[in-house]
Amino acid sequence: MKKNTAIVNAGRQKKWTQGVINPPVFRASTIVFDSVLDMKKATAKRGEQAMFYGRRGTPTTFAFADAMTELEGGAGCYVYPCGTAAITSAILAFVKTGDHLLMVDTAYEPTRDFCEKTLANLGVEVTFYDPMVGRNIEQLIKPNTSVIFLESPGSLTMEVQDVPGICDVAHSQQQDITVILDNTWASPVLFQPFDHGVDVSVQAATKYIVGHSDAMLGTATANEKCWPTLRENSYLLGQCASPDDIYLAMRGIRTLGVRLKQHQANALQIAEWLAKRDEVECVLHPAFENHPGHEYFKRDFLGSNGLFSFILKDSNSQALNAMLDGMEHFKMGFSWGGYESLILANSNVAKLRSATPWPFDKPLVRLHIGLEDVEDLIVDLEKGFVRLNECLK
Ligand SMILES: Cc1ncc(COP(=O)(O)O)c(C=O)c1O
Repeated sequence: MKKNTAIVNAGRQKKWTQGVINPPVFRASTIVFDSVLDMKKATAKRGEQAMFYGRRGTPTTFAFADAMTELEGGAGCYVYPCGTAAITSAILAFVKTGDHLLMVDTAYEPTRDFCEKTLANLGVEVTFYDPMVGRNIEQLIKPNTSVIFLESPGSLTMEVQDVPGICDVAHSQQQDITVILDNTWASPVLFQPFDHGVDVSVQAATKYIVGHSDAMLGTATANEKCWPTLRENSYLLGQCASPDDIYLAMRGIRTLGVRLKQHQANALQIAEWLAKRDEVECVLHPAFENHPGHEYFKRDFLGSNGLFSFILKDSNSQALNAMLDGMEHFKMGFSWGGYESLILANSNVAKLRSATPWPFDKPLVRLHIGLEDVEDLIVDLEKGFVRLNECLK
């Protein structure tokens, strides 16, 4: 089955939908049984998509988990109330006190904070590594390394990692190392984690899967080896997601293929326009030939999306504020992956990394290019540059 056909059909088994097109919202805490025997049977099957108790999920959860497993691959998928919960639960399932974890230096900031605070408190040692380390990750592996965490492309700065190279090294060690990937940028469409050797793939479904900026959700999909451990540990942590939010994700996912195509086309057009602007030092986009890890992007990814960054050549806080404050279509706000365009500036990228130097001292601007007409977005950015230049005179 080709990708768009799979997107339309994923998770729509009759046992979950009862024949309607969209799997309905089943809200539940208590689920009642007709007999002691039925209750015993459900208890025995409680980890396997059985109607048992609301926290274990309802057909809405099961349909979405099936959809994600079909689209991303792997043996099973656990659904969490947000992407951060998926990241922290996936990590906690595979580390214990005394272990060592390798974390990519370009990880999403809360992932980094979790390592520096929660994992440190639990006695898990963390080493941050250069996203471009590739197979040289071998030199950083210790006898007690139990998890290597990747995020590709990296948050804000978009470096693309050699995922298969790192997985290959991880899996050829004597000890058992679990490779976890934050695959949010690619969604289940642009990168197939299990074909590249990943053990657990995490999605902040809040982004492109929900796709409309109206719900928080996370998923972690695991291969055969890691699925039972991930599922049981996530359940023990009390992780469960609202069926209403899952319903929105199931609705969102059906248009993921066409939305991504348009995000990609719009973003590439704007990235190319920005690259020619005098105000721009450089564009950080995985599809650009000079971008770190572009060769891996070309080799492993099926396309790009609407999220990329650029570095300003010259700026000060007054000029940057003037540029951002007057935007008409680019709204300022956290997150990304909805249908709308967003803009976010960061003047402190160097503070977000410890293993790799950051060569720029001017602000980074991250754009999420939405589904508006590109011409309107370019006019908006052009006017922003006029405000920036006026302040710099
Ligand atoms: C790459 C990446 N991973 C994870 C997350 C966390 O997702 P959530 O906001 O749903 O917790 C984000 C959110 O911005 C993200 O950009």
